[in-house]
Amino acid sequence: MSTPRGAVQDDDPTIGELIAARPHLAMHAMDGLVMDGVPLAAIADALGTPVWVYSADAMGARYQALAGALSGLDARIHYAVKANDHLAVLRVFTSLGAGADVVSGGELRRALEAGSPPDRIVFSGVGKTVAELDLALGTGVGQINVESGEELDILAARAAAMGRVAEVGLRINPDIEAGTHEKISTGRARDKFGIPYREAGLLYARAASLPAIRPVGLAVHIGSQIKTIAPYRAAYARLATLARALRASGHKVETIDCGGGLGIGYRNEPTAEPEALAGAIRATLGGLNVRLVVEPGRWLVGPAGVLLASVVLEKTSGRTRFIVLDAAMNDLVRPAIYDAWHGIVPLAAADAVAVVGPADIVGPVCESGDTLARGRMLPRLAPDARVAILDAGAYGAAMSSTYNARPLAAVAMVRDGRWAMIRPRQPIEALWAEERIPDWLG
Ligand code: LLP
Repeated sequence: MSTPRGAVQDDDPTIGELIAARPHLAMHAMDGLVMDGVPLAAIADALGTPVWVYSADAMGARYQALAGALSGLDARIHYAVKANDHLAVLRVFTSLGAGADVVSGGELRRALEAGSPPDRIVFSGVGKTVAELDLALGTGVGQINVESGEELDILAARAAAMGRVAEVGLRINPDIEAGTHEKISTGRARDKFGIPYREAGLLYARAASLPAIRPVGLAVHIGSQIKTIAPYRAAYARLATLARALRASGHKVETIDCGGGLGIGYRNEPTAEPEALAGAIRATLGGLNVRLVVEPGRWLVGPAGVLLASVVLEKTSGRTRFIVLDAAMNDLVRPAIYDAWHGIVPLAAADAVAVVGPADIVGPVCESGDTLARGRMLPRLAPDARVAILDAGAYGAAMSSTYNARPLAAVAMVRDGRWAMIRPRQPIEALWAEERIPDWLG
């Protein structure tokens, strides 16, 4: 929920608590905020702000932690490309052996470009176009998750025309309340996603009867930023019942795609750990003897990224102190869309220990929705002082726009004391480079 202007949340973590809870970040007396041994101010100096910085080490460590939690299960991690589709981020995961979960032709192309083996790509999505299905069939993706009978017919026709047999998972809508934000809940009956679980048996049988389709199993994804395990358990129990019923009718169910959605503690709040998710999978699907897939995005990359911004100015308006940054809703839209809470910490060590007072942190975009945080306890920040907006590795750069003719921010990646620019700031001319003015306008 949003905080009324000026109100301070008593239970907010302090600057020190936010840094302490993120192992790849540390505050050094001289260097200020450091990520995996790299002073973030050095990156801001070199590339300017706003700039995204990702820790490849943190991404790798989180992948290994998740893989460890899933050990003993026949489970593969397919990174959800939508969370952060930068080629270097995709390479971090493909080089660790991850597969990919893609939801558009563009994401499929990106995954292939980053070196993902096609047979380790699952293509999901509620409205794949014929061109996208053709691309998936042509490149030989491992599995296409079908979300409706209508889509099954289109895919069957395309596969037959191309002389292919498509390996298909049926994405089931289990009608489960995931207890997350309305706009990122995907598994309730009223949501647009998946096949109602009561209709899935008939559709699976129909899929099995189509010569160009091979139904290989079931898929589910009930939402994102899910903080408890109960909704997962309920959804997976529904899938297990369905899988058993399908087998009893003579169908093969070889794989179950468990979806993504595992939440992170943006506010240092406790959230369900991968071990708990693995426990729910084991308890519900463990006895089925199926290959399992999990599709996390946010959990792998969210905490591993920050957005660095500079203070343009502080202004006081009535009783509210506003800190105006050079980063805005066009860079990080999550607070505007989901009332999302992201930690904000100063980069300079002196700022991090100075006396704090409440402030609203805003960007320069001409909308009141361009508010990155309300009622935060932050020190007085001079123009050009820098801050890091935390947990911006997922659904940050990937959801950026150029609204207000603001170019896409630069991006850097850090690993073990080294850093590299992985995308320059978009040149301003690139914003209109492809635009045409018709002759008849004079
Ligand atoms: N699999 C499917 C089919 C999905 O639709 C999604 C996310 C995922 C996996 C990965 O979910 P994750 O593990 O990242 O929660 N823009 C929103 C989140 C949208 C999630 C959409 N689907 C946000 O910023 O919170």
